[in-house]
Amino acid sequence: MASRGRALSLVALCLLLELALQGAAEHLVPAVFVFGDSMVDVGNNNFIEKCDIGCQANYPPFGIDYLNHKPTGRFSNGYNMADQLAQLLQFEESPPPFLSLSNESLSTRMSTGINFASGGSGLLDVTGNGPVCTQVFSMPEQVRSFRSLARMWGRADLISKSLIFINTGSNDLFEYTDCKGHRCKHNDTEFLHSLMASYTRFLKDLYGAGAKKFSVVSPSLVGCCPSQRALAHNPKNHRGVDNHGCLASANDLSRQLYPMIASMLHDLSLELPGMNYSLVDSIKMAEWVFNNTATPSYNFTVLDRACCGSGVFGADGCNSSAPLCQNRSNYLFWDDYHPSDAASGIAAKLIFGDTTGLFVHPINVQQLVEL
Ligand SMILES: *[C@@H]1O[C@H](CO)[C@@H](O)[C@H](O)[C@H]1NC(C)=O
Ligand SMILES: *[C@@H]1O[C@H](CO)[C@@H](O)[C@H](O)[C@H]1NC(C)=O
Ligand SMILES: *[C@@H]1O[C@H](CO)[C@@H](O)[C@H](O)[C@H]1NC(C)=O
Ligand SMILES: *[C@@H]1O[C@H](CO)[C@@H](O)[C@H](O)[C@H]1NC(C)=O
Ligand SMILES: *[C@@H]1O[C@H](CO)[C@@H](O)[C@H](O)[C@H]1NC(C)=O
Ligand SMILES: *[C@@H]1O[C@H](CO)[C@@H](O)[C@H](O)[C@H]1NC(C)=O
Ligand SMILES: *[C@@H]1O[C@H](CO)[C@@H](O)[C@H](O)[C@H]1NC(C)=O
Repeated sequence: MASRGRALSLVALCLLLELALQGAAEHLVPAVFVFGDSMVDVGNNNFIEKCDIGCQANYPPFGIDYLNHKPTGRFSNGYNMADQLAQLLQFEESPPPFLSLSNESLSTRMSTGINFASGGSGLLDVTGNGPVCTQVFSMPEQVRSFRSLARMWGRADLISKSLIFINTGSNDLFEYTDCKGHRCKHNDTEFLHSLMASYTRFLKDLYGAGAKKFSVVSPSLVGCCPSQRALAHNPKNHRGVDNHGCLASANDLSRQLYPMIASMLHDLSLELPGMNYSLVDSIKMAEWVFNNTATPSYNFTVLDRACCGSGVFGADGCNSSAPLCQNRSNYLFWDDYHPSDAASGIAAKLIFGDTTGLFVHPINVQQLVEL
């Protein structure tokens, strides 16, 4: 009896604690809506039948540092940037993947948020939907789904106070620089302008559905991820290597794209009444990490190799038979394309609260959600 009584009071205590925690955790926005690619996908690709296994992450050792070591479809050892930003906004983690939700639950989910992001997708409709992933949930489909849900739900007041979090563009750059053969276009100016035309359209469509607060993450130095370093250093490829030891052509494109995104957002905020944004300069963040390897503000000792994967720079892909590093938080990269939980966590903190003016413009997400 005594032990049963103790067990019951433990249950009661846990319930009380849970209630207390829920009470304390006041969300800073009504909802978070996430769009984009594998940096922020929390499992949409698990529900796409034709999606290539290389564009899914629902098998070990993905999620090895997540709750119960569970692979969920996050392209990370633990949480990703969408989770970590949501946590700073006082949610438990990212909202759930759109494709996991039943039609009945969609309207309740609208009130706290939905994640539409799909690994492999990009600004262009074709990105991901080809030889790379076979099929993804493209950006146009992500935006269209949100628009029709918003229309049915009819709570523009809540949507306008919610955060739209977008991380896209890197896969377009990967596919463009990796493209071989006669189908490939090779006019950088034209290519980058086509990306901006799509981006502008998506943002206007989201705004049209009631969204007002946008946190936009620009593509980082994409030529520095292990897969691209391996390409750059493969003697058969004759590809340029930049001063960080990365694929120069890919990084050049990122560097050209950033100011285009910055001026597009600036112009849109003048054109669209009540729109506000926070733009993340991911290139600055990457440079800052590369420049400050000697500073002990984080524990990254390995900046070029994937934690999970064999081959040069560990770039041959992550799966259960691939070698895994010992100390995952010492690695900037978890696999051939994606940051470790430790790295995305540092990015999320800067996105939310950077006050140096270096990494987010013109305001950070904390200021954005307070407007
Ligand atoms: C859910 O809703 C969509 C659009 O309204 C519809 O196309 C789909 O068939 C529905 N799915 C189910 C399982 O009812
Ligand atoms: C690339 O496209 C731009 C814009 O269409 C054009 O002005 C330029 O001449 C093109 N460059 C080359 C090398 O074809
Ligand atoms: C927010 O947006 C409004 C209008 O779009 C603009 O006037 C204001 O300066 C913006 N606030 C900040 C902090 O950027
Ligand atoms: C990193 O170092 C390079 C070369 O010294 C410099 O040009 C760049 O501005 C630095 N970037 C950051 C964010 O510290
Ligand atoms: C670095 O590692 C130490 C020891 O594991 C840990 O206490 C510290 O929090 C880590 N620092 C960061 C920024 O993660
Ligand atoms: C793992 O990382 C922590 C923090 O940087 C460090 O203190 C520890 O020595 C590392 N362990 C190994 C085996 O490298
Ligand atoms: C696992 O990844 C390694 C490279 O890291 C690769 O050589 C191997 O073929 C992969 N195994 C499976 C079953 O996909």
